[in-house]
Amino acid sequence: MNPLILGIESSCDETAVALVRGDRTIVAQGIASQDAAHRPFGGVVPEVAAREHVAALSPMVARVLTEGGVTLSQVDAVAATAGPGLIGGVMVGLVTAKALSFAARKPLIAVNHLEGHALSPRLVDPGLGFPYLLLLVSGGHCQLLAVEGVGRYRRLATTIDDAVGEAFDKTAKILGLGFPGGPAVERAAAGGNPAAVSLPRPLAGSDEPHFSFAGLKSAVLRAHATGRHGVADLAASFQQAAVDCLVDRSRRVLAQEPAMTAFVVAGGVASNAVVRAALAGLAADRGIGFVAPPPWLCTDNAAMIAWAGAERLALGLVDGLDSLARPRWPLDPAAEAARGAGVKA
Ligand code: KG4
Ligand code: ZN
Repeated sequence: MNPLILGIESSCDETAVALVRGDRTIVAQGIASQDAAHRPFGGVVPEVAAREHVAALSPMVARVLTEGGVTLSQVDAVAATAGPGLIGGVMVGLVTAKALSFAARKPLIAVNHLEGHALSPRLVDPGLGFPYLLLLVSGGHCQLLAVEGVGRYRRLATTIDDAVGEAFDKTAKILGLGFPGGPAVERAAAGGNPAAVSLPRPLAGSDEPHFSFAGLKSAVLRAHATGRHGVADLAASFQQAAVDCLVDRSRRVLAQEPAMTAFVVAGGVASNAVVRAALAGLAADRGIGFVAPPPWLCTDNAAMIAWAGAERLALGLVDGLDSLARPRWPLDPAAEAARGAGVKA
């Protein structure tokens, strides 16, 4: 059997729909960025995001079905992000998926957005088996997870303050680079010297496995305020410090988890070329395989949600129409909160 899954993603500021088959064929997909709607505010406004999803989603479902050359009755399951994320947007996507599932009499799969990121490398690499070590780096999360199977995650490290994507976004704001911040910092950094500004590497070398980025962001703010450094040098130095932290923490956890078959990176920050190169270098150092999905599959998209749906459907993991939208939904519910204030998921 080669089921066809319709996937929907609406947890942040991307409205996305995709048709993916169990054999990894991406049949059709659509993605609409809301950047223009949020740019005047310098960040994602939840209420604006939800309204934009309402406007964009239903026409996109119709368009993707048409482009895929299929009707709703040919879809075998409907998968949608059910959390974590901005709750208004999540509700738009999940309720739409429920309606489609009910109308087509096909199963609903309520997907954890983080599981979408976590399994996305398996969509492009059929040889990637469990267990693998995942560095999940996005706007809301910075975690190292042992991915032991579909729905089976062991969190090994998390951030004690900001997520790494958040640090990129805040740095972009400090440097006046605009929105969205991550790609803007990467572009600015390309013209700067990563050794120009001395910045801290919070928790690097520490015994505990966790991440911290709040101090780095504050250091950028202070260095910028001196007026002695150009924006490109500040961006490059920040990016290098963030990358060094990711590598240091990942190296520590890799050394403790010899059973891992590969080192994998996913989430929006994984689309950054400097981040990818440094992590590939770490994997090569340690003699372990490295997998990074193509950049478009690292940032939010619906192909990863449809694929997580395909993986779950294959195991009979389907959900009821009473599934709830969840603003918070950790992949490893047993993980304890890391020390520090403002811990994310
Ligand atoms: O996974 P994602 O698209 O959405 C979330 O689930 O959060 O990740 C978005 C995050 C944002 O913080 C964004 O600034 C960051 O990923 N990001 C980048 C780059 N592209 C996106 N960070 C650094 N360099 C990039 N090229
Ligand atoms: Zn995401």
